[in-house]
Amino acid sequence: MSDTLVSVRGLTKRFRVGQRQLFRDAVYLTAVDNVSFDVKRGEVLGIVGESGCGKTTAARLVLRLIEATAGEIRFDGADITKLGRAALRKLRRQMQLVFQDPLSSLNPRMSVGVTIAESLRFHGIGSREERQVRAREMLDVVGLSRRYFNALPHEFSGGQCQRVGIARALVLRPKLVVLDEPVSALDVSVRSQILNLLLDLRREFGLTYMMISHDLAVVKRVCDRTAVLYLGRVVELAESEALYREPLHPYSRALINAIPTPDPKAKRARDLGGIEGDVPSPIDPPKGCRFHTRCPYRMPVCEREDPQLTEVAPGRFVACFLHHPPAAAAA
Ligand SMILES: Nc1ncnc2c1ncn2[C@@H]1O[C@H](COP(=O)(O)OP(=O)(O)O)[C@@H](O)[C@H]1O
Ligand code: SF4
Ligand SMILES: [Mg+2]
Repeated sequence: MSDTLVSVRGLTKRFRVGQRQLFRDAVYLTAVDNVSFDVKRGEVLGIVGESGCGKTTAARLVLRLIEATAGEIRFDGADITKLGRAALRKLRRQMQLVFQDPLSSLNPRMSVGVTIAESLRFHGIGSREERQVRAREMLDVVGLSRRYFNALPHEFSGGQCQRVGIARALVLRPKLVVLDEPVSALDVSVRSQILNLLLDLRREFGLTYMMISHDLAVVKRVCDRTAVLYLGRVVELAESEALYREPLHPYSRALINAIPTPDPKAKRARDLGGIEGDVPSPIDPPKGCRFHTRCPYRMPVCEREDPQLTEVAPGRFVACFLHHPPAAAAA
């Protein structure tokens, strides 16, 4: 069995967002642009970047909730890029999504127990009684008691609703769970509890996670490896420990320096390499290196050539001319 569970190559998603003139010039926004990465079995792969950089779109592509414009997705060794409806439905059992906003992702009129059992019914698993038994077990597993089977979502806190969302995903015994900002909508005080629960469940059920977050402090705590996204591209991919110790891409460095810290001595380091301005529009991204408009280290070549993601040390990938020569110079 290969140690790779998900393999993504050249994944691209363009959304049509308008038209400049009637019958002419359709306007496209490239949300995910030629992205490649692997998710290894049993790992937590973090996907980070500012809002709008394509994290959710990338997740939805991997889960086949939306169609890719180009690229290939392999799951458990099989190409899933072009599956029909029936095959997709079977596949969905194996890959589940936990949403950012736990309350709005639950049906307000359905008890939390039925919500979890419904996940099984949708996939034709078990009898009604069996589904209820498994739903009760799952409530215990996620640290809500089975006594809450008949409770409605509005009776719960955000953290408790997220536990239901996790139970609904895990009751199917998936191989991959994509967590899209799973604690961003929660109070700071319960974030740790939910993250600890997710890590415990990964061990208990042998899960693989893709953890999306704009909050690097979260990713630093739980992810084995991290991919940094900027304007739809992976600009750095590395073991989390190495990335946080020594970020290579100026954008990664700025993101990591911006993590709030209670240590006043760390403030100076935080200010260094800080970047300004907003993310440019993905409708018309900068030429050359997409980060050059905000990069404090830009060189003339950065405005002309587009740095490719390059392995600069084993398992360490970066797309920046500070760390590898332009392709034209290397040829
Ligand atoms: N269905 C859609 N139609 C048009 N544009 C979209 C659609 N979904 C996302 N986008 C755009 O794609 C870019 C990436 O969005 P998204 O993947 O949600 O980013 P993130 O999750 O990192 O905040 C954004 O510019 C967003 O406006
Ligand atoms: S390639 Fe140039 S502009 Fe882009 S991140 Fe590296 S130094 Fe900055
Ligand atoms: Mg998002």
